[in-house]
Amino acid sequence: MSRPVPQTPRLGVCYYPEHWPREWWQDDARRMREMGLSQVRIGEFAWSRIEPASGQFDWTWLDDAIEILYGAGLSVVLCTPTATPPKWLVDAMPDMLALDAEGRPRRFGSRRHYCFSHQGYRLESQRITRAIAERYGQHPAVIAWQTDNEYGCHATTLSWSTSALYEFRRWLARRYADIRALNDAWGNVFWSMEYRSFEQVDLPALTVTEANPAHLLDFRRFASAQVASFNEEQCSILRTLSPGRDITHNFMGFVTDFDHHAVAADLDVAAWDSYPLGFLEQFWFSEEEKLRYARQGHPDIAAFHHDLYRGVGRGRWWVMEQQPGPVNWARFNPAPLPGMVRLWSLEAIAHGAEVVSYFRWRQAPFAQEQMHAGLLRPDRQDDVAANEVRDVAADIAALGLVNTARSPSAPSSRVALVFDYAAQWVTEIQPQGAGFSALRVAFDWYSAVRRLGFDVDIVPPTADLAGYSLILVPCLPVVEDVLRQRLSAVTVPVLIGARTGSKTPEFKIPGLLPPGLLQHLLPIRVARVESLREGLKEVGEGFEVRLWFEHIETNVPAEWSLRDGRGVLFRHRNLRYLAGLLDDAGLQRLMTLIAIEAGLPVRSLPEGVRLRRLGNLQFAFNYNSDPVSIHHILPPSAGCLLGSAELSPAGVTVWRMRDS
Ligand code: GAL
Repeated sequence: MSRPVPQTPRLGVCYYPEHWPREWWQDDARRMREMGLSQVRIGEFAWSRIEPASGQFDWTWLDDAIEILYGAGLSVVLCTPTATPPKWLVDAMPDMLALDAEGRPRRFGSRRHYCFSHQGYRLESQRITRAIAERYGQHPAVIAWQTDNEYGCHATTLSWSTSALYEFRRWLARRYADIRALNDAWGNVFWSMEYRSFEQVDLPALTVTEANPAHLLDFRRFASAQVASFNEEQCSILRTLSPGRDITHNFMGFVTDFDHHAVAADLDVAAWDSYPLGFLEQFWFSEEEKLRYARQGHPDIAAFHHDLYRGVGRGRWWVMEQQPGPVNWARFNPAPLPGMVRLWSLEAIAHGAEVVSYFRWRQAPFAQEQMHAGLLRPDRQDDVAANEVRDVAADIAALGLVNTARSPSAPSSRVALVFDYAAQWVTEIQPQGAGFSALRVAFDWYSAVRRLGFDVDIVPPTADLAGYSLILVPCLPVVEDVLRQRLSAVTVPVLIGARTGSKTPEFKIPGLLPPGLLQHLLPIRVARVESLREGLKEVGEGFEVRLWFEHIETNVPAEWSLRDGRGVLFRHRNLRYLAGLLDDAGLQRLMTLIAIEAGLPVRSLPEGVRLRRLGNLQFAFNYNSDPVSIHHILPPSAGCLLGSAELSPAGVTVWRMRDS
């Protein structure tokens, strides 16, 4: 059992005492408190200082650092340092390195240079976790643990090492028991790919042309399970040696390489690292969006992840690393608009974050991230974000914010959007049309409903869907029976997107044809699919179909059709199926139509403005670099607790709703 959830949202910071002279620590701690911070994450990359040589521990510096922070009234989130195994360890077992798909080692000299399947490294990870937990597990300063750091970062979920190969074979043997079952499941008769024993199966890399997608999907499942079991090993040690503390992990943005729900099953709290400007620059957004939101981030990037990780954390989640200024790792790294760090922080809190923690305290003038801003500059002066953090602390106090009771089963929104990590693996393995991504479809649908002013819960396919007014299933190729049952139990509008139900768990086309099991609820059949290159589109009344189009056989009349009469949107009772990807305007129209039907209060938000409700407080956020008026959204008698009906650039307005 972990401690009760603290009542007030907290602010924190990521700190690296080992980077700075000891004489600075006291002053750092004092200034953290002065800034309104109350918790400090430390230790995730400090293995070489904790254990400079095998078995020789130096705890003195960490003892001092924890005492100083504690003495200043700060709580500590202590990390296991397993993302950065030290050189002596790598030299002692060089085969612990992951190999890339070409078989090249991912060498020492940065971080995350380990293979999740290496049994020797697993033991080392447990040994160092035990050592740290034995020393600090009962320390009153330590309120929580972070396992490792950003599993999967730098494409490290998959490894093509010999350890991975042996573990994969064992995993397959457990899954299929008999090699004939594997041959059957994968369809290995195709191209004479049949095996006679599990020992013959290789990792799916360096094949002449594409490997069997079923082989690839099982490899992804296996790799995901390796991350989960690596994490579980640390968690079980921490639970024993440090009872009563929360255990978390800092997940990432737009990273889907492992099943986060499976990893989070062993955590108390999900955390994620929010870098809205870096993500805008690095991901699929259009040039126009990249320019428009260069200093703000796309208005739905942070929110999408807040809502995703709230689900992953079963209601409890933190922002562990909040971008404080320019980062160092995107193609271009602009500074946030003044006020943006405050906006991002308040938006996280409005979505239910218990903690917003900034990365990092002071910019390091050395090594890889010397161009990455912190709350302080390398010369120890406040950087721009420092004052915004003070503002956030003042806002939290002014609003009297308290963490609302989190019951994992209670919806916090009226709209549920179903997302599954394996859906993304399927569309990565077999895009069929360049750029098709289940994650992107989910994001686009999310964005379309957020523009209408709704709060959204992003939930796994196993979630209880009762209590929602609108259910969206953007793209879920493998539909398990539990989802079919959940959907058959609801009467509210449900929108199901293309490619849903298009594969069996073995990566085959279902015998009934897509949408497979869902045909029991929705009598349509996908007879053919086609992908459309950029510029090639199918046109209907008020919408266009792009990239993906499905030819449907059914007696159900189409609700929306192309000009040539072929159906695009089909409705049977409360369920609709969308047989393609729509352009933005078409998608917006469709979401509006369904939301109205669901009885949701559609609002017309100015471009770049988003809303989120926390308890009886309604927040509005302006992602524009210009002021925007929200007079038409504010209820006539509402007095603003923060901001006003004129939202300044990066402005936040908060008012109390009367209906609760
Ligand atoms: C995160 C990582 C941090 C730091 C940061 C820089 O992905 O967890 O250690 O590298 O990015 O933005």
